[in-house]
Amino acid sequence: MANSVNYHVLESEMDSMLHDTDDATLKEETHSHSIGMRKTPMKSIIIMVLSIVLVLLILVVIGVLSVTYLNCQDEKPKIIVVLVDGLRWDLYNVSMSALKSVAENGVRAESMVPTFPSLSSPNMYSIATGLFSESHGVVHNLVFDVENKTQSHSFEEGLTVDYWWDQPGVEPLWITARRAGFKTGTIMYPGGSVSIKEMRPNKNVFYSFNATMKDGVDIAIEWLIDDDLDLVFLYNTSLDDTLHQYGVNSPQADAVVKEMDDGLGYLLQKLENHTLANSVNVIVVSDHGHHNITEVVPLFGRGVNRDDFEFYLEVYGPMTLLQPKEEKMDDVYETLKKIEHFHVYKKEEIPKDLHYRNNERIPSMLILGDLGTVLNVGLNSSSTVRSTHGWNSSYMEMHSVFYAQGPAFKEGFMSKSFTNVDVYPLMCKILGVTPRPNNGTLDIVQNMLTT
Ligand SMILES: *[C@@H]1O[C@H](CO)[C@@H](O)[C@H](O)[C@H]1NC(C)=O
Ligand SMILES: *[C@@H]1O[C@H](CO)[C@@H](O)[C@H](O)[C@H]1NC(C)=O
Ligand SMILES: *[C@@H]1O[C@H](CO)[C@@H](O)[C@H](O)[C@H]1NC(C)=O
Ligand SMILES: *[C@@H]1O[C@H](CO)[C@@H](O)[C@H](O)[C@H]1NC(C)=O
Ligand SMILES: *[C@@H]1O[C@H](CO)[C@@H](O)[C@H](O)[C@H]1NC(C)=O
Ligand SMILES: *[C@@H]1O[C@H](CO)[C@@H](O)[C@H](O)[C@H]1NC(C)=O
Ligand SMILES: *[C@@H]1O[C@H](CO)[C@@H](O)[C@H](O)[C@H]1NC(C)=O
Ligand SMILES: *[C@@H]1O[C@H](CO)[C@@H](O)[C@H](O)[C@H]1NC(C)=O
Ligand SMILES: *[C@@H]1O[C@H](CO)[C@@H](O)[C@H](O)[C@H]1NC(C)=O
Repeated sequence: MANSVNYHVLESEMDSMLHDTDDATLKEETHSHSIGMRKTPMKSIIIMVLSIVLVLLILVVIGVLSVTYLNCQDEKPKIIVVLVDGLRWDLYNVSMSALKSVAENGVRAESMVPTFPSLSSPNMYSIATGLFSESHGVVHNLVFDVENKTQSHSFEEGLTVDYWWDQPGVEPLWITARRAGFKTGTIMYPGGSVSIKEMRPNKNVFYSFNATMKDGVDIAIEWLIDDDLDLVFLYNTSLDDTLHQYGVNSPQADAVVKEMDDGLGYLLQKLENHTLANSVNVIVVSDHGHHNITEVVPLFGRGVNRDDFEFYLEVYGPMTLLQPKEEKMDDVYETLKKIEHFHVYKKEEIPKDLHYRNNERIPSMLILGDLGTVLNVGLNSSSTVRSTHGWNSSYMEMHSVFYAQGPAFKEGFMSKSFTNVDVYPLMCKILGVTPRPNNGTLDIVQNMLTT
């Protein structure tokens, strides 16, 4: 609030300055006429009048320039990205009234295609960098190290491991924009809590803070106003957690969807109340969809066992990464190929369309289930996971959402589906930041913009 009030005060001061200047010009003119009639030496009068006019002209020009500058400041485009983890494109498009209002006042994509694998960290980083996961290096939610045979066991653990995110040539927008002189902030957003090339966003709220959606909105609004931030990423994980636990279309998930939508409505209302609606672009996205699990296949005890591997990523999910011992490579490959509903690829065979090969973090083998089927790789506990994601991003069930409103966006426009790497060049365009090399295409998404 403070800043917008300041702008208004300054603006009205400028207005009165201008008016004063105009009045002064008139007075001077009248005055010099009367001086002229008193026959003072003509030459010095002309010089005096000319100097006064010149000084006044300069003042007027300065005034006009400052007002123009201040107006530009007022309309400086800002972006708040709200990422709702696990929001599938087609499930809640009718029940979320705030989200629907974004589509009516702005734009939406029919759906947004995640990068592979359709997991949270890889996709949130793709949205922030415009890179496929093979190019940004966050190839899985779990941080692992084939050489040292270590891995994390939760998404949260990975969020504070700097080197997993800080890779050569990889820069999320909150860093690139900050380098370009913009102010940026991240609220629980993956990658925002680590240092990238020894730089962080201007403001950050750690994941462990566990802010509710409304808390997050309050912090974001405060940053936009009091700290004049240009770009804020706000993340919430509740919906994904609930979908994992209770499944797609469960009443529990519906209740969280309502909380998410209420949070979004609260954001829109606050922007209106603080007269920020004309400068702040709101982008609502998700990282992936969700689908109920229909079959669980334990990896070990199907002709392969732990000893066959240098490394295996322990997961309960649609895909995993394996490094069979050199001498076991072909046996393991042939054995795993026989498991129904799963596809096994040696690294060099991984289909190009997944963009999941060209990174040394990816070990020598990938195994991927058909929609609904998951692997239990080395976990002993019987899981209560009912729904999940991570399958081929081309399945419609894995598709996510893109909705946006604000001064940069058209009204009531529906775009065809696009891939989430395209969001990065779109955000760069809106802010006026030069994008870093990326895998997105502005042309695909540009028709959502007013200019
Ligand atoms: C909502 O998604 C369904 C697909 O599940 C689609 O048929 C329908 O047209 C969508 N409605 C709106 C308002 O987007
Ligand atoms: C593996 O562990 C060693 C010893 O702890 C460490 O120096 C090395 O950096 C680790 N490798 C990777 C890739 O993290
Ligand atoms: C975050 O808060 C929710 C309830 O609001 C709670 O269920 C959850 O355990 C909390 N998570 C952490 C990591 O503190
Ligand atoms: C997400 O938002 C919900 C609802 O506002 C809240 O209960 C939860 O603590 C939030 N937490 C995280 C970590 O996203
Ligand atoms: C998904 O599984 C949950 C829990 O078993 C169930 O309540 C829900 O109806 C299922 N959803 C669909 C779409 O099958
Ligand atoms: C917005 O302003 C109205 C009217 O002053 C007020 O009733 C409402 O609580 C405000 N909402 C938010 C989210 O700030
Ligand atoms: C599962 O059980 C096996 C055999 O008892 C043990 O070696 C392994 O460490 C256990 N794995 C986990 C993740 O607890
Ligand atoms: C992913 O799905 C698409 C579309 O169905 C298909 O063309 C492609 O072959 C699939 N890729 C893999 C690796 O399953
Ligand atoms: C994605 O972008 C990176 C950085 O420009 C580039 O190195 C990589 O080859 C691109 N990937 C594809 C599939 O074009």
